[in-house]
Amino acid sequence: MDSFSRRDILKTFGLTAGGLSFLNTDTFAGDSIDEPIELPHDDRYIPLEKPVTAIVLGAGNRGNVYGRFALAFPNELDIVGVAEPIPFRNDKYASAHQIADKNRFKTWEDVFKVPKFADAIIISTPDDLHYGPAMKALEMGYHVLLEKPISPSYQECLDILAMAKKTKRIIAVCHVLRYTPYFRKLKEIAQSGQFGQLISVNHLEGIEYQHMAHSYVRGNWHVAKDTNPIILAKSCHDLDILRWIIGKPCKSIAAYGSLSWFRKENAPEGSTERCTDGCKVEPECPFSALSIYHKQRLRIRVLDVTDDPAKQGDEILAKLKTSPYGRCVYRMNNDQPDHYTTSMEFEGGITVNFAMEAFTSFEARKTRLMFSHGEVWGDMDEIQTYDFRTKQNTKWRASKLPEYKTQASGHAGGDYGLARNFVQAVAQNKPELLTSTIEASIESHVMGFMADKSRLGKQMVEVKI
Ligand SMILES: NC(=O)c1ccc[n+]([C@@H]2O[C@H](COP(=O)([O-])OP(=O)(O)OC[C@H]3O[C@@H](n4cnc5c(N)ncnc54)[C@H](O)[C@@H]3O)[C@@H](O)[C@H]2O)c1
Repeated sequence: MDSFSRRDILKTFGLTAGGLSFLNTDTFAGDSIDEPIELPHDDRYIPLEKPVTAIVLGAGNRGNVYGRFALAFPNELDIVGVAEPIPFRNDKYASAHQIADKNRFKTWEDVFKVPKFADAIIISTPDDLHYGPAMKALEMGYHVLLEKPISPSYQECLDILAMAKKTKRIIAVCHVLRYTPYFRKLKEIAQSGQFGQLISVNHLEGIEYQHMAHSYVRGNWHVAKDTNPIILAKSCHDLDILRWIIGKPCKSIAAYGSLSWFRKENAPEGSTERCTDGCKVEPECPFSALSIYHKQRLRIRVLDVTDDPAKQGDEILAKLKTSPYGRCVYRMNNDQPDHYTTSMEFEGGITVNFAMEAFTSFEARKTRLMFSHGEVWGDMDEIQTYDFRTKQNTKWRASKLPEYKTQASGHAGGDYGLARNFVQAVAQNKPELLTSTIEASIESHVMGFMADKSRLGKQMVEVKI
């Protein structure tokens, strides 16, 4: 079955639209109730006799992304267990997926205290809680869908790879950009040879100023040592996609970057510890928590507030008075760089400039590929090409594809593309179906480790895998 409307989901679970509010609008944006969700066709995929069963560890943002896939495609994925310490999230998740009480757990460790009861484990716990569950899941014979970054430690990445090989289990890393129609097209053009030899690449990742404030100043990833350096936490997708599009290994890296703006010395006069403390500059502050969460209602899932519009505003205000999300962006203990530039040399002398930028109005990637006989550039929707010989310009748009509505699945369609790829690999027991293997993912993680070594040590670093 290739399409399933949200109304069907509602019917299946006997829910009202309000009852489905865990379908975070951040990732379902643009998907109205009657629009079917369609995924690109893949000849290698087969209809399944029964869905792959999975246990989700961490029912936060990403756990819910895979949960939504299961609800949209119940013939493909059935979530039969959950581990989540926050009762509000655990309850909501268990009720959405009708999970039996005996299969609901507080932490990931509890899941492995009972005999194996599903095909796969989906690891969507925080960055520092990937290694333990990944090793244990493989050891117990589960297949694994592992959120990126694999681990903050190279040795732990290698240990997980070795365990997957030893146990012959399937393990996919959630490098979701590989599954977007846009990046698949960009790779196809880059590898086609139609514009001659690839000479160099320019790649820009715009984080967007409010997203930066949310995730890397106030949120889960604001202190590098507690999670991962931002080059891995945010940009391992970009390192991975560059390696994948170029199709050759990275040989050396030189990186620069720092935390320039979100610092105590930049706190404006009249600002306060929290945006709710009567801050004098709050009305004109672009990073105001009152504006982001209360007025715009962006990214409020992290606050665990009600979906009832009559009560939501008050609950948000209360959470901004106690949670990190209400704190002044200039008075945090954050240390992640807000601008980060990386120059890389790939095999064959291909040079790459990659800039991760917090201060952008857009949240997307823009890439320019320069070939001996032409130029290719895109913005995660449109790809343009220019042939130096024919002087011809062409345009291609992901949003013109019949399956474009899949983009509602988040990450420009990559989230559901990845979920289906993993399900098919497990159901057919064919690891070769995977696009984002752990081997490939480790290579781009090493690029990230070396980038930070270069940035902190102020030296060019060789990349050896
Ligand atoms: N693939 C992507 O594009 C992408 C995007 C965002 C985040 N991520 C990664 O996904 C992972 C989860 O991120 P998120 O945004 O969903 O974070 P989140 O904080 O929303 O979710 C993590 C959940 O894990 C739960 N948790 C904490 N300790 C636990 C434990 N011991 N056992 C079980 N659950 C526990 C938390 O309570 C939380 O609900 C992170 O590693 C993150 O870097 C990947």
